[in-house]
Amino acid sequence: MNISVIGTGYVGLTTGVALAHLGHKVVCADIDEAKVELLNKGIPPIYEPDLEELMAKSRSRLTFTTSYREAILESDVVFIAVGTPANADGSPNLSYLHEAFDNVLKTLAHKATPTLLVNKSTVPVGTADRFMDEIRRRGMGQVVDIASNPEFLRQGRAVYDTLHPERIVAGGSERAARILQSVYKPLLDQEKIPFLHVDLRSAELAKYAANAFLAMKISFINEMANVCDCVGADVLKIAEVIGSDHRIGPAFLNAGIGYGGSCFPKDTRALQYIADTSGYNFKLLSAVIEVNNDQRYMMVQKLRRELGELAGRKIAVLGLTFKPATDDLREAPSIPVIQELLALGAEVWVHDPIAMEKAKELLPAGVHFAKDCEECLQDAEAALLVTEWPEYLRTVPAAAPGLMKRPLLIDGRNAIPENARAGLDYHGIGIPGTSRK
Ligand code: UGA
Repeated sequence: MNISVIGTGYVGLTTGVALAHLGHKVVCADIDEAKVELLNKGIPPIYEPDLEELMAKSRSRLTFTTSYREAILESDVVFIAVGTPANADGSPNLSYLHEAFDNVLKTLAHKATPTLLVNKSTVPVGTADRFMDEIRRRGMGQVVDIASNPEFLRQGRAVYDTLHPERIVAGGSERAARILQSVYKPLLDQEKIPFLHVDLRSAELAKYAANAFLAMKISFINEMANVCDCVGADVLKIAEVIGSDHRIGPAFLNAGIGYGGSCFPKDTRALQYIADTSGYNFKLLSAVIEVNNDQRYMMVQKLRRELGELAGRKIAVLGLTFKPATDDLREAPSIPVIQELLALGAEVWVHDPIAMEKAKELLPAGVHFAKDCEECLQDAEAALLVTEWPEYLRTVPAAAPGLMKRPLLIDGRNAIPENARAGLDYHGIGIPGTSRK
């Protein structure tokens, strides 16, 4: 099929590359000229494992352009995958989406053959219905149909998740669902993936529900970890016990300093806003968000219990991205942790295996950027492991005892294996024998 994808962020670019890999002819459009130039050289503007390789393999079926006309006029299906960042009040900012939709419709006015417009961006319930009204208002209802096809990929595993989805959700008419089934046919044939055809509003809400539920699992296990710290139990054992019940499942029960990234914080707040403005007080979700906000300060509390005053003391912060295998710093828990340490007068040194350049633009003045993990640890009085990059799990336990003034390690991800903790003054989150409240 001929497919175009509007927006080349994480979701758009991965979708475009994956669809080309599945055999479709794909044109990706973005208004950012610099991005398109990079992409035409075969370089993805984001760090995502396997993406560059897959792009190279599918190059003959993949084009990048800044022209919507070039992208859309030959397409049977147009995916819209632009960002919907949060406004200050938590509501999703739909300005990029509206702009893209308007430009797509203006271009489609010059096309007589049917087009399915598929929204992949995370949007408030009712957005697709409003778009359909606008399509009819412009007299294009006979040739343009709308579908909602939410995306569930994780950053750092975007390519894998796109090629091995847990399910494909198709919101919209019977005809729209049939077209989406053809788009994803190679995937559906190859693996037993559920294809779920639902109405537009349910598809839109399901995306928020999935992220909110996962965020709830994280906040739940984080609160259990805090209880474990109070009563001397082990949250890793609790997660193992409850996770082995298939009704609960073992995933997303890693306690730590809370979730970050461009999705969970934004989507939980957006769902709260959607519920609020529809007249429903989603109490459980409000608690999930509140627990996550508080959890980010747990490491600094533990540090203060061990060291007392932090003024003038060198503290190493290891890992800045919101999780490993990405260079993304959006809503990364490292940022409030660093701000808090600076506010308490600490001498803050930071290191990250891949996000140092981005971090220099973002972190407040006064932060020291170490050239490597060793320089970060040298003479530090404590180290905070904020992101569980695999290299830290080896180097930190080996290097810290020799380099640090005191090998005090607060492991915000419970990631250092038990057999590697011997030389460290080790404190996890919800692990016995470590700090109590
Ligand atoms: C999340 C969802 O997992 C995807 O399914 C969804 O498509 C995506 O949001 C989105 O809406 O676009 P992502 O934000 O890339 O994906 O990252 P996750 O791997 O889900 O991790 C999110 C945060 O939760 C990270 O900060 C991670 O460290 C934290 N986390 C995750 C925990 O603290 N504990 C866990 O057990 C799991």
